[in-house]
Amino acid sequence: MRIARLAALAGAIICSLTIAVGGAAANETPTFTEDVAPVLYENCVVCHRAGENAPMSLVTYQETRPWSRSIKSKVESGEMPPWHADPAVGEFTNERGLSDTELETIVAWVDGGAPEGDPSRLPTTPDFASGWQIGTPDAIIEMPEAFEVAAEGEIAYQYFTAETNFTEDKWVKAIEVRAGTPAVVHHVLAYARAPGAERQPSAYRQIPVGARAEAAARARAERAASSGRPTRAPGSGPGTLIGTMAPGTNPMVLDADAAFLVPKDTTIVFQIHYTANGETTTDRSRVGMVFANGPPEKEIRVSAFLNAFFEIPAGEANKRVDGIIEFTEDAEIHAIFPHTHVRGKRWLYELVHPDGQRETVLSVPEYDFNWQTYYQFSEPLSVAKGTRLEAAAWYDNSESNRSNPDPTIDVRWGEQTWEEMHYTGITYSVEREADE
Ligand code: HEC
Repeated sequence: MRIARLAALAGAIICSLTIAVGGAAANETPTFTEDVAPVLYENCVVCHRAGENAPMSLVTYQETRPWSRSIKSKVESGEMPPWHADPAVGEFTNERGLSDTELETIVAWVDGGAPEGDPSRLPTTPDFASGWQIGTPDAIIEMPEAFEVAAEGEIAYQYFTAETNFTEDKWVKAIEVRAGTPAVVHHVLAYARAPGAERQPSAYRQIPVGARAEAAARARAERAASSGRPTRAPGSGPGTLIGTMAPGTNPMVLDADAAFLVPKDTTIVFQIHYTANGETTTDRSRVGMVFANGPPEKEIRVSAFLNAFFEIPAGEANKRVDGIIEFTEDAEIHAIFPHTHVRGKRWLYELVHPDGQRETVLSVPEYDFNWQTYYQFSEPLSVAKGTRLEAAAWYDNSESNRSNPDPTIDVRWGEQTWEEMHYTGITYSVEREADE
C-alpha cells in the first residue's frame, strides 16, 4: 500500500508535467475501453467473470455499464476490491487495493456518464481459460464422487476423503483448491492426513491461556509421560490444513526456494461448506499441486494453532480470546490465516521478541467470515528462538451483530458455523539440515 501510494504520487508528478505540456487532454472523461477496462482486468475480473463467485461479470462494457454507480460507491468506500487487513501494518504479496490514480479514473469515468469509448481500444480479456492459476498441476486430487447439492435450505458441512496415491514423498511448491461448481461452494478447506500417528515436527510450542487450557495441557503431559508417546494437540483431527478456497483466497504459491512436504500415502480431507442457490446441482471439487524438482532450500511447514478453551457468554459484544505460541527454534513466518466463524469481528497478531519488544505483524480490524484470507507476507518475518506470537480475536455475541444466529446462547469451540473457533493457520520455515 505504501508503495502504491508512492507510485501514485510519482504518477501525479508526471501527470502535472504532461498537463503543462499537453494542455486539455487531462480534462477528458476517461472511457471504458481505454482507461477503465485495464483497471478492472487487473483488479476485479479474477472474481467478476462468468463462473466465479462474484455476483456479476465486469468484463465487457455491456456487462459493466449497469453497475457503474455501484462500482463507484464500492471502490470509494474501499469495500472493493476486498481486503480486510489494516494497510498500515505489514506488506503482503496477495494484497488487493487500487492506487489513487486507478480510483480517480473509475470515479471520473462514472461522474462523466460512463462512456464506452472506441471499442477497438478494448484490451484483450485476461486469459483464465486453463482454470488453474498455479499453471498445470503435477497432481490433481478430486473428491471421489460428485456430491448432490440441494436447491434450498441450510446444508451441514460436508467431509470427503480422497487418496493422493503418492508412492513417494512429494515437495509441493504451489497448491490451489478449485470448486467444481463455484456458484454453490462457499468454501473448501483441504487437509492433509499423513499415515501413522506421528505428527510433523514442530518449531513452536503452544502456551496454554486460561485455567481450562492449562489443566488440559497438564493432563496431556501426564498421559504422554505414562504412555511414553506424544499425544495429539486438541483439534488436530482432520490433519494439517494445506489448501483453502473461499471468497478472497488466492492459491498458495511459495517462493522459488521453498516447498512443503506431502508424505507418501497422504489422504486429503475436504471440508466443504455448500450454499444452496435455488437449483439442485452437483459439485466435485479438487485440489491441484505443482511439485518442486527436489528438496527445497527452505522447508515450509504448513501448520495451525488454536485455542479451543473459551466461552463467549450470551449477549457479550466484545469478548477477547487469546492464543499464544512460542518458537523453540529460529524460524521465518511466511503467512498467517485468521479464522473464526460469524461472531468473530477482529484479529490482532503481535510478535513478542526475546528482548520483550512487541511488534504488530497483522491487524484485521473488521474480520468477516465471508472472506477467508491467508495473509502472505512480502518479506518473511524472522523469529528468533524464544519469540512468541500472540493471536487475539474479539467476538460479538450480542444481537447487534447482524450475522449472529443466536445471541441468547453461550458459545464454545465447534465445527459448525453456529459454534465458534479460534484458529490460526500458519506457514513457517526453518533452516534445513544440509545432509537431510
Ligand atoms: C476476491 C474476489 C473479488 C474481487 C477481486 C473484486 N470483487 Fe467485487 N465482489 C466480490 C463478491 C464475492 C461480491 C459479492 C459479495 C459482496 O458484495 O460482498 C462482490 C460485490 C461487488 C459489488 C456489489 C454488487 C452488488 O450486488 O451490489 C460491486 C459493485 C463490486 N463487487 C465491484 C468490484 C470492483 C469494481 C472490483 C475491482 C476494483 C472488485 N469488485 C473486485 C468479489 C470480488
